[in-house]
Amino acid sequence: MEGHRRFTAIGRQFGIGIVGLGEGKGLAKGLVDHPELKVVAVCDANAELAKSIAGQFGVPHHYSSLANLLAREDIDIVAIYTPDQLHFAHIRQSFEAGKHVLCTKPLVNSLDEAKEVFDYVRKNPQRQLMVGQSSRFFGPMQHQRQAYEAGKLGTLSFAEAQYVHDMRWFYKERAWAREGGFDLLFACCSHPVDLIRWYMGDVEEVSAYASRTEIAEANGFHGNDTFVVNLKFTSGKIGRVLGLYGLEHLHQTRPWIEVALYGTKGTFIGKYPQLEAQMKYEGEKERTEHYFEDIYHYFQFEGVNHHAGEFVNYTEHFARCLHEGVSAMPDAEDGCKTIATLEAIRQSIREERPVRVKGL
Ligand SMILES: NC(=O)c1ccc[n+]([C@@H]2O[C@H](COP(=O)([O-])OP(=O)(O)OC[C@H]3O[C@@H](n4cnc5c(N)ncnc54)[C@H](O)[C@@H]3O)[C@@H](O)[C@H]2O)c1
Repeated sequence: MEGHRRFTAIGRQFGIGIVGLGEGKGLAKGLVDHPELKVVAVCDANAELAKSIAGQFGVPHHYSSLANLLAREDIDIVAIYTPDQLHFAHIRQSFEAGKHVLCTKPLVNSLDEAKEVFDYVRKNPQRQLMVGQSSRFFGPMQHQRQAYEAGKLGTLSFAEAQYVHDMRWFYKERAWAREGGFDLLFACCSHPVDLIRWYMGDVEEVSAYASRTEIAEANGFHGNDTFVVNLKFTSGKIGRVLGLYGLEHLHQTRPWIEVALYGTKGTFIGKYPQLEAQMKYEGEKERTEHYFEDIYHYFQFEGVNHHAGEFVNYTEHFARCLHEGVSAMPDAEDGCKTIATLEAIRQSIREERPVRVKGL
């Protein structure tokens, strides 16, 4: 039942440090025995958790302070999985210590923070940043990308991306979600906004509505938890993003994350966490593809609640790109444009009008 240890070649060794060991333990687990990517140290403000994760996954060093982890010269890449509100400070701290940064979504929590991150990377090209947008690196979404890049969908006419999930557990187990600076729009819609931008490109204007359900209220969450967003891209094409978090979820039949691409030659629907996709290409029959052989790569422990496989995929991608001297997507510019889009959505909701996405 363990992960397949399905690793790909990088070309050189990298030392990895991981901070934030809730979701972050998925990367520590996934990289066990990786021939080139060595988790040198883990860090969590909860010292007992850091010690326990280091013990479980054979990580030689553990810390309760990020500064101590960053002082290690054998760490090249810092992977950040701390609460959303801390990403900006931890990115800056890691850059200042001379590390490359892999930061989970949402990269940061406002356009102002995104501008600072982008400005730093532009002025310090020796420091690279990649956003850990796990959904891009999940099996069905990778197959979808291959079909798109192979031209099997033709030119895209429309795209729709959604993240639909019952978040009651989250309000209960993540105290920081009820604290200032947290925004479910950034935390969750960063997935579908990133995914739709991956295909449709830069967003020119958004028009969004949001509301709060009784489920949010009853669970002590006082922000919006239901989002419908229409997007107009700079290409002139349009698309739609849906983010629903106050509901009783159909786990078997409705994907949490779905990307539907409608093109001139084909339609492809990629799904998470189901290891399957539906497609119809010009001149061919409609079909469902299953990727069950991937199951132990993606779901290495705790069911579908961690993303070990996706984290391995994107960390390998980042390290390989660093080795080859090319930008790892989504890079700082791409990630910051997603934040700029989310900021425009937030403004559109607040001001109840369409809003143009600001530049970096
Ligand atoms: N699909 C994905 O990629 C995905 C999925 C879930 C969560 N996330 C992201 O991961 C991040 C963490 O979420 P989570 O669910 O693991 O939360 P969590 O609360 O379970 O874990 C966060 C950890 O960070 C630690 N921490 C807090 N402040 C710290 C500090 N200053 N220094 C070191 N450690 C500190 C906490 O002790 C905690 O163990 C969030 O940004 C979330 O959005 C990404």
